[in-house]
Amino acid sequence: MDHFHYRDGHLYCEDLAVSDLAERFGTPLYLYSQNAILGQLRALQSAFEAVEPLVCYSVKANSNLSILRVMAERGSGFDVVSGGELFRVGLAGGDPSRTVFAGVGKTDEEIAAGLEAGVLMFNVESEAELDAIARVAASVGKPAPVALRVNPDVDPKTHRYISTGKKESKFGMDIARSIALAERSRGLESIRMIGVHMHIGSQITTTEPYAGAAGKAVDIIARLRAMGHPIAWFNMGGGFGIGYRGGEARPVAEFARAVVPAIRATGCRLAMEPGRVIAGNSGILVSRVLYTKQSGDKRFLIQDAAMNDLIRPALYESFHRIWPVDVPPGLPAPPEDYEAAIEGTAPWDVVGPVCESGDFLAKDRALPPLDRGALLATFSAGAYGMVMASNYNTRPRAAEILVDGSRAILARRRETLDDLVAQERAGLEAAGAGG
Ligand code: LLP
Repeated sequence: MDHFHYRDGHLYCEDLAVSDLAERFGTPLYLYSQNAILGQLRALQSAFEAVEPLVCYSVKANSNLSILRVMAERGSGFDVVSGGELFRVGLAGGDPSRTVFAGVGKTDEEIAAGLEAGVLMFNVESEAELDAIARVAASVGKPAPVALRVNPDVDPKTHRYISTGKKESKFGMDIARSIALAERSRGLESIRMIGVHMHIGSQITTTEPYAGAAGKAVDIIARLRAMGHPIAWFNMGGGFGIGYRGGEARPVAEFARAVVPAIRATGCRLAMEPGRVIAGNSGILVSRVLYTKQSGDKRFLIQDAAMNDLIRPALYESFHRIWPVDVPPGLPAPPEDYEAAIEGTAPWDVVGPVCESGDFLAKDRALPPLDRGALLATFSAGAYGMVMASNYNTRPRAAEILVDGSRAILARRRETLDDLVAQERAGLEAAGAGG
């Protein structure tokens, strides 16, 4: 079931009218459907059932505590890349022993925090990092469980900014280096090498790159075991793509079919780190039209969400479907193809109030004429939306609402101007006292 759906031309999130929520909580507003999130979690858990999957939701995609909490309650593990994300998992009631700690630049303090919490394993990205983990583990007196992040050198065929599995990427180690590192860490008492990790990129819409990576993992795991490392986990990372336009990504069951045979051959348990596929289509950004204007042939729809709220279009030229929350009569709700000619529409650049030409949510987008105050929904905004928001132009960040059926909870209140300057006030006071 689609948890964002139109009824008689009005957009609903589960059982609640989006326009009512916008009225109640203001705009710009992030709205998340709890049942969409949990449905995706269940879909992954069941598609990969044959290899006892541990779904470690990638916190970076959407780290709202209320979302982490409902996921933890349904048995989700977590993938964290900082001490900050680990802190969030703890607050939300997540289980550290179902949490993997990834990231190329872990500090000693973060490694110690991970050990202290009892994370399932650290994904190790370099020789120097393994040395640091061994040193911190020895000083804490607790052996560190680790997985080697191997870079399988496959092309995920995605945007260059979110492609990680190629040799020239800053992430992981190539196969030869990984094998050499495993060799030299034999007998290291403070390290237990229990896994192999691969993450090849994000928004991957075909299954071949995964099948290629998993195939390489079979051989690597056998070699590491032959050295005596008790490899029990294969962590295939995240990256499953979603439909931003419609059905461009493969269903998760197809990804499962592509890798399960290889994983079975290893006898490992499967861990995975999906982010976008869980949160992406579970959230929308709601905004309100401020002004329309025309310049030459160009039409601009200026609304109150900006690049500081959703930076993906500016950063990756990414496409997000946009449609009115309350659809004017005679128009489809929603269109089947957002890029086809739609009667009753004209091309608009949907832009925000930030002082940058890169501040847009869409270019030349087919939309009907809309009056000041009309509401717009920007879809597929649940992942890498709010987490990448900033206060640029001293704009308070949006509120976030989690909807479960007919219940809406304020999962993050809108920031106030006082919130924005709180950390700077001490500077003014110090200057005042000094002068
Ligand atoms: N595991 C690792 C090691 C990762 O680096 C990432 C994402 C994930 C898991 C989760 O990937 P997902 O399942 O969400 O594709 N800001 C970009 C995406 C950056 C992805 C970074 N790493 C965007 O908005 O498209």
